[in-house]
Amino acid sequence: MIVTIDGPAGAGKSTVARMLAERLGFDFLDTGAMYRCVVLQGSRQEVDWEDDDALGAIARELQLKFDKGSVLLDGEDVSAEIRTPEVTALIHHGADNLQVREAMVALQRRLADGKSVVTEGRDQGTVAFPDSQCKFFLSASAEERAKRRVEQMRQTGKEVSLDEVLQLQNRRDQQDESREVGGLRAAEDALHVITDGMRPFEVVEHLERLVRMRM
Ligand code: DC
Repeated sequence: MIVTIDGPAGAGKSTVARMLAERLGFDFLDTGAMYRCVVLQGSRQEVDWEDDDALGAIARELQLKFDKGSVLLDGEDVSAEIRTPEVTALIHHGADNLQVREAMVALQRRLADGKSVVTEGRDQGTVAFPDSQCKFFLSASAEERAKRRVEQMRQTGKEVSLDEVLQLQNRRDQQDESREVGGLRAAEDALHVITDGMRPFEVVEHLERLVRMRM
């Protein structure tokens, strides 16, 4: 069984998807981490960002592994490095590149082959697993998502202003929504869940009930 969770940045997808996978005993696929690894590798190899073929080749050759919540690139734990603002600022180079998208979707399908999986991203219900019987579109208001981000940063000792976070978030929403292939949109058969005012465990319980009804 494949459970897809798509939605904008900051809607709580990865926390919720990870917890849901654990409760169901399914594997968890963080597809944003895959695009982040492509861009990190591109940056390390000083790729020419205008050269689609070069980044496409990097994506096809990517040696990526998920190991107990860590992301391993060529065997190195890059879980923290792929989440830096530097990588986030470069992410559109990977996400807009059709060769990269094709390689990532193929990898996602390989990783899910023969397994029960909760997968989260932007195009999981629309492009990667259109036949999934259980699709969710998770969102929250821009303000709520930005507030959560500020709180998350504060907990790691970084002070950022709500305005600054909102600006970056709006830019990324716009990039994610306007992408022609793999852009952020809800599948027609996705169930919409708005998480404003909900704690992660409440969202997970709600989703778990819906998944179990379909199992
Ligand atoms: O979920 P995230 O913030 O880690 O994702 C990083 C970026 O990767 C996001 O801005 C768009 C891209 N992405 C994508 O295009 N398709 C996916 N399935 C997942 C992420």
